[in-house]
Amino acid sequence: MESKSKIRLKIDGNEVTADEGMTILEVAQQAGIHIPTLCHHPALSNWGGCRMCVVAVEGVPRLVASCVMPVRHGMAVVTTNERILKSRRMVLEFIFAERNHNCMFCPKSGDCELQQLAYDLQMDHMTVPQSFTPFPADVTNDYMGIDHNRCILCGRCVRACTELAGNHVLAFQNRGPRTLVGFDLNETLNGSTCYACGVCLQVCPTGAIFSRQRTHYAVKGHPKAWHATDSHCPQCGLLCPTTMIVADNTLLKVEGRLAAAGNRPDRGQLCVRGRFEVLNDFGERLRHPLVRTSSGRWTEAS
Ligand code: SF4
Ligand code: SF4
Ligand code: SF4
Ligand code: FES
Repeated sequence: MESKSKIRLKIDGNEVTADEGMTILEVAQQAGIHIPTLCHHPALSNWGGCRMCVVAVEGVPRLVASCVMPVRHGMAVVTTNERILKSRRMVLEFIFAERNHNCMFCPKSGDCELQQLAYDLQMDHMTVPQSFTPFPADVTNDYMGIDHNRCILCGRCVRACTELAGNHVLAFQNRGPRTLVGFDLNETLNGSTCYACGVCLQVCPTGAIFSRQRTHYAVKGHPKAWHATDSHCPQCGLLCPTTMIVADNTLLKVEGRLAAAGNRPDRGQLCVRGRFEVLNDFGERLRHPLVRTSSGRWTEAS
């Protein structure tokens, strides 16, 4: 097998080795250096749309988006300094100003990548005025809804629907501040060809795409107290790999194992039954094996 040539570069003064074709973000993550991201998702193609991941590269006058910039031999990268932090904070403020992010009334609060970035970058007040236009929320589907007022136009859902679900339902519609994620040719969620696989919901970093099943998870304490357990979906014989998010002995949500999917044919996908309908099943679990006796009755066995 042809081996890739190795590249040597410096990140924050540390010499690191990378494979040709890796991005600065990937090399930094491999070296344990955290760079904040928003539009990037490891299971999706790189897009470079939000500019949250900007870093400085020696000899390059502008800050560059590390999630799309490939590394070069001899590069010297700085991932944090005052200029970079100022740029990230400015991007974050504009994102918050563009739509209605009133976290107190959002079911995603506490489990939201955008909100977490505001804490990480210490955005305790806004220096730009809020300028959003209100949009209606689409709750025509029983399983999930979309509230465009919380959307940051990161495009993760669009890429997930195309690259993972292969269904091509989602695309950006309109221009400028009226840009929205739309379903087919401006259909409602339920009137579109969406089959509610929910992978767009799983990758959405904010509360824009939300689950309509077991929504009381919003009051089930802080996500830090939730437990994630890898399992397999028992709904059919395919046994798709899942991660079960549980709190207080209650199943809150089921996620596909996207990050670990690699070349698996399921690509970490789940179907509507495995992701949503399982949450409606409040039935008792079998705790012991049962054997049917000659009289036709079920009795517990060892
Ligand atoms: S999407 Fe995130 S940042 Fe926006 S209101 Fe909800 S919790 Fe807050
Ligand atoms: S639920 Fe699945 S099919 Fe529907 S829009 Fe989202 S990714 Fe596409
Ligand atoms: S709906 Fe979510 S994933 Fe899609 S563009 Fe908006 S914020 Fe990003
Ligand atoms: S995470 Fe790199 S540009 Fe959005």
